[in-house]
Amino acid sequence: MHWTAFLITGLTATVAASSKPALPFSTSGRNIVDHDGHAFLYHGTNWPGHLEAMIPEGLQYSSIHDIVQKIRGFGLNSVRLTYATQMVDEIYAKGHDTSLADSLTTALGAGNATKVLGQILSHNPQFTAKTTRLQVYDAVATELAKQGIVTHLDNHVSKAVWCCLPGDGNGWFGERYFNVDQWIRGWRYMAEHASANWPTFASVGLRNEVRNAILEGEPYDWYTWYIHMTAAAAAVHDVAPDALIFFGGLSSSTDDSPLPQGWPLLGTPLTSTGGKVAYFNPDVLPYQKKIVLEIHKYDSFVIPYNGPCSLWKWDFYGKGFAALDGDAKYTLPIVLSEYGFAQDGEYYKKKYNHCMIEFMQEHKFGFMQWALQGSYYLRQGTIDSDESWGLLDHSWTGTRSVATVQNSLNLMLAAQK
Ligand SMILES: *[C@@H]1O[C@H](CO)[C@@H](O)[C@H](O)[C@H]1NC(C)=O
Repeated sequence: MHWTAFLITGLTATVAASSKPALPFSTSGRNIVDHDGHAFLYHGTNWPGHLEAMIPEGLQYSSIHDIVQKIRGFGLNSVRLTYATQMVDEIYAKGHDTSLADSLTTALGAGNATKVLGQILSHNPQFTAKTTRLQVYDAVATELAKQGIVTHLDNHVSKAVWCCLPGDGNGWFGERYFNVDQWIRGWRYMAEHASANWPTFASVGLRNEVRNAILEGEPYDWYTWYIHMTAAAAAVHDVAPDALIFFGGLSSSTDDSPLPQGWPLLGTPLTSTGGKVAYFNPDVLPYQKKIVLEIHKYDSFVIPYNGPCSLWKWDFYGKGFAALDGDAKYTLPIVLSEYGFAQDGEYYKKKYNHCMIEFMQEHKFGFMQWALQGSYYLRQGTIDSDESWGLLDHSWTGTRSVATVQNSLNLMLAAQK
């Protein structure tokens, strides 16, 4: 090799050199550990693709390359990439995946679809109108890998729509849109696909924010949760044995309390699960070294609260963090896979942010901020809907609120160390 070529190659290597995650991951007590046995702490953000268009958001404003570079710029090492089971259902129904052009037309109507497609293709010229949704996911995951970022795949909803409004049909097993067999079929498809094609595919979240459907679906109880979550986990492990499997508990993933404690997971009296009981015992599950708890926490503490953080922290700790500290029957990693608030230069001053940072300082766990996106193709009927909680501004080009990032995300990263 001529020395100038060597220099150029060397330079390219330096630019590309982000520390590559050593996959696969597994668990060891409270830690997620990489292939070399080093603890890996997720610090990521959420990047949705589960809304009506079923395409990862933002591509009408930016290239995938530039978006991923911004994620790295925030100092993050992972992305929770969300999908809707409907995407896989449609592959089965049609015998093929849906194109960008067709996805956008269905979601936005013909006029806006033409415009948005043109914008997507101008920022991402590697695509065409015929590129399919899953090919776009592949391109996102490939770029994340190129820049050293881990992909965590999250099943966010069944029917592709903004999550999670009461009665939206996506909340609980057997609810209007939450067909359990299709959910598991979807997982087999996606986990197999991701493990074969995404170089830094590391983990899955089985289902986002399961919650009481009230009048529909199966009995709302921990026994029902156990039966279906372990069935989905077995399906994932079967096709993607290297992947970590995240389990989020009841009440919209805000409560994992019985899991580390090994408490009996009961059915509901006077229903089909009456008198039934299961035990979550990580030591006997076939994916024993892959089990991670996930939890969500937004600023909705029930007691109006202006005191010190102790009560807030005690409450949050009780939702499953005994898993980390050997205070429970089973020691397991737990990851805060959603938390966040308005990126408006003001909200970070609230108790919630301060208490969360203190809590991180004391317990050191993985986290994924909600959320990256500055806007959506379509959200709740609004085209080009703004996301005031996004790290990025509406046009996905700059940071929405530098002061907020400095006083929240950056302090979480420092507290995690
Ligand atoms: C795009 O959608 C908006 C809002 O629904 C609508 O008012 C507008 O007419 C649409 N534009 C085109 C070109 O169809």
